[in-house]
Amino acid sequence: MNNIQSYIKEHKDRFLNELIELLKVPSVSADPAYKNDVLKTAEIIKKSLENAGCITVEICKTDGYPIVYGEKIIDSNLPTVLVYGHYDVQPADPLELWDSPPYEPVIKKTDKHPEGAIFARGACDDKGQMYMHVKAMEFMTATNQLPCNVKFMIEGEEEVGSANLATFVKNNQEKLKNDVILISDTGMIANDVPSITTGLRGLSYVEVEVTGPNRDLHSGLYGGAVANPINILTKMIASLHDENNHITISGFYDNVEELSKEERAEMAKAPFNLDNYKTALDIDAVYGETGYTTNERNSIRPTLDVNGIWGGYIGEGAKTVIASKAYAKISMRLVPNQDWENITKLFMTHFENIAPKGTKVKVTPHHGGQGYVTPINSIGYQAASKAYQDTFGKTPIPQRSGGSIPIVALFEQELKSKTILMGFGLDSDAIHSPNEHFGVWNYLKGIETIPLFYKYFAELSQ
Ligand code: BES
Ligand code: MN
Ligand code: MN
Repeated sequence: MNNIQSYIKEHKDRFLNELIELLKVPSVSADPAYKNDVLKTAEIIKKSLENAGCITVEICKTDGYPIVYGEKIIDSNLPTVLVYGHYDVQPADPLELWDSPPYEPVIKKTDKHPEGAIFARGACDDKGQMYMHVKAMEFMTATNQLPCNVKFMIEGEEEVGSANLATFVKNNQEKLKNDVILISDTGMIANDVPSITTGLRGLSYVEVEVTGPNRDLHSGLYGGAVANPINILTKMIASLHDENNHITISGFYDNVEELSKEERAEMAKAPFNLDNYKTALDIDAVYGETGYTTNERNSIRPTLDVNGIWGGYIGEGAKTVIASKAYAKISMRLVPNQDWENITKLFMTHFENIAPKGTKVKVTPHHGGQGYVTPINSIGYQAASKAYQDTFGKTPIPQRSGGSIPIVALFEQELKSKTILMGFGLDSDAIHSPNEHFGVWNYLKGIETIPLFYKYFAELSQ
């Protein structure tokens, strides 16, 4: 594999240009207005897999957006790597906060990326990271050194909960059979501190609606005499945490896995600078559950957060009104052993119970998924670790992430294989935010590291 560097050098501009073309198509899965763009993106992925050397490539229809599937099976005695990624992106709004338009990619230098970063929606999550695998595949087939069978499964609904992928996986067990699942859709600590993600949090996402009177009322004529749904909703939400920022829903912590002292001490070894963290976010203090560090709060502990809240009058000037309804969207990040469907039920019961007389409450579950942890002694983890060792010159640190890729737990349940999360993004890459970007260095480093994973995985599997 010593010619991967020269291959990258020779094809670098094309690798960047192809990704830039992919980023120009706004494949927003959440908004039906982008339907044609999402479908067009699936076609682009199909062609790119063909060009990269996959033998069979198909666009698999689902009840939602299609899954692009491609494979190259070279020898049934060799191990099979299943690559998963997603070609859909989050909505780009608020548009006015972008320094350059989200679907007109540009390369600019940043503090963290002195060699330049590509700015566009999806640059890091997940088009850029997914495309590293397509280019690594191209290298391995073009130079005749593919050491494993490869299957690609690239979906278009990750950002909206992967509901149709779950069905696809359940119905295609034989087709998707593999020895390891490889995903680049997470991050690493820093460019000089490589890490491999060993855990993901689960998720339960709900929407709540509080109804007071049957119509909006004059806030003078009725104010003080009826329950104001916005006042009530904010009070109910505030009561979901106690003074230690512990979640008050009864039973919420019942199955939470508690880490041992040793495990927490191991975690604390990962480099982390609280002052830099605060400076980067322009906050004068961190905030969270008593008794846990920042890194613990955002990875091994469950959370409850309001993601959006609305109701009443928000137009120009002042309107005196008591709204009939108030709403909020709430996410709960979960840790291993918490079952998301059970947590959703606990939330619903609790929220209905704390609603005062004079109001009606409706809770609508959205989507969810289980958390995930993967051991560091698997062949897959060891292969990844050796690959990073070669390209970064350092052993990567195992690290549990706070984010969620709900389908990963289902992969393990249905396909019985471990997932290796080789992320090359940085937390500062602003995924889901305005000005999302992905370092050019990171993109090329990923393309360089991935073929080594295949090499070591094949060697260690013998
Ligand atoms: N790629 C992210 C998840 C991620 C990012 C995990 C960074 C770890 C580090 C994924 O696309 C995502 O955004 N997931 C959603 C959940 C999904 C059901 C909408 C999330 O975590 O909010
Ligand atoms: Mn993603
Ligand atoms: Mn995402």
